[in-house]
Amino acid sequence: MSRIIVVSNRLPSPRSSAGGLAVALTDCLSATGGVWIGTSEDIATEPGQRLRPLDETESLFVKMGFDLTRQEHENYYLGYSNSVLWPVFHGRADLMDYREEYDISYHALNARLAAMIAGLLRPGDLLWVQDYHFLPLAAELRRLGVSNAIGLFLHIPFPDTNDLQVIPDHVELLRALLDYDLIGLQTQRDVNAFLGSCRTCAGAELMIDGSVSAFGKRTAVASFPIGIDTEGFALEASRTLPPRHVEDPERQHLIIGVDRLDYSKGLPQRFLAYERLLETHPELAGRVSFLQIAPPTRSGLRAYSEIRAELERLAGCINGAHADIDWTPLRYIHRALPREQLGSLYRRARVGLVTPLADGMNLVAKEYVAAQDPENPGVLVLSRFAGAAEQMTEALLVNPHDRGAVAQAIHRALRMPLGERRARHASLMRKLLEEDITWWSTTYLKRLRDTVWHRKIVT
Ligand code: G6P
Repeated sequence: MSRIIVVSNRLPSPRSSAGGLAVALTDCLSATGGVWIGTSEDIATEPGQRLRPLDETESLFVKMGFDLTRQEHENYYLGYSNSVLWPVFHGRADLMDYREEYDISYHALNARLAAMIAGLLRPGDLLWVQDYHFLPLAAELRRLGVSNAIGLFLHIPFPDTNDLQVIPDHVELLRALLDYDLIGLQTQRDVNAFLGSCRTCAGAELMIDGSVSAFGKRTAVASFPIGIDTEGFALEASRTLPPRHVEDPERQHLIIGVDRLDYSKGLPQRFLAYERLLETHPELAGRVSFLQIAPPTRSGLRAYSEIRAELERLAGCINGAHADIDWTPLRYIHRALPREQLGSLYRRARVGLVTPLADGMNLVAKEYVAAQDPENPGVLVLSRFAGAAEQMTEALLVNPHDRGAVAQAIHRALRMPLGERRARHASLMRKLLEEDITWWSTTYLKRLRDTVWHRKIVT
């Protein structure tokens, strides 16, 4: 059986092993003797030339790490990946900080990684690359003569053409992307945006089978909305007791938000929408409580320290204006909580607020629904601009920029009759069980194998 080699910037850590990708891929990686490659946590003084096996005995598959130098961390990771690609791909071209040294470092890192991977590949291995940190990796591997199947899955949105064109070397990025055999995106909207950019910027031809052809190359493109371990998460949430300090009898009035503290998550807009709710519904005073958990991320970057300062100011203002001696309307926690605790908090919360301005998928939306008690479920208020909105149409879908509309949706969620809550939850759960994380990885890998098989037949 062919091995699967996964590449992602971050390796799954023992701490996050209960969630997401790691769960989905553990079975197929361990069954095929596969390998997961990613950056180690160490900072090197010299760019390393070899992958190192990471000694993690509890892992069911082999993990190989490569060290970044401090400069690579700054230029490849904080720089090109998170100050160019991340903002532009999330519709924030205004926040792009393009610098040549970022661009050079990003491409050099991808070339160095390609050389390390090429030394490890066997004929028949499937390579599955994750996310925007490695857009040129397939092109670098092809340059080295690697002909194995290589797929990419982009976890973040694909930008509209106008945004993409802001990146000085966007045509080169597209050219490099066409060296993948299969490009997986989160939603149909992303597929359309990608195809539109290929057409506009590279004169690409769209083929009848959904693939795209340009620069003398051809790539299959499709959406594969990523899922969660729905059953596992539901079970865990139903088993864990809520932490003591939130064990108040007002279960119906907890509103929860959980997001990395990122400007794409729409947190200031969400805080202001909550304030609007308090202003327009004074009867909710003392009867509702909004808990926002926002762990820090990429804190070396200015855009992130700015959003943090803004949120702290807003939280202070809202509590200052509305709190009472025995009531804190908004609790804001700027650190990560253990996953088990999150499940039980989701289950207790009458409203899940997931209102990003742009988001690839958003797994919190899915976890919130999976954690609910089917007999007495809470309601998900979900931004139209989260990838999850394409599947989760029974949530209350909102425009996160429209404060009044979000406030109204929260109010509607708080007052929603049990019958309607159950019906919406049941149909959301049906989809989450059908298209879970295992469905996602098996569907993607099957399509990658089929694509390569087809390529062999026609060439
Ligand atoms: C998003 C990206 C991931 C990334 C994660 C955390 O979900 O799609 O690739 O790992 O954010 O960001 P960080 O920069 O901390 O890895």
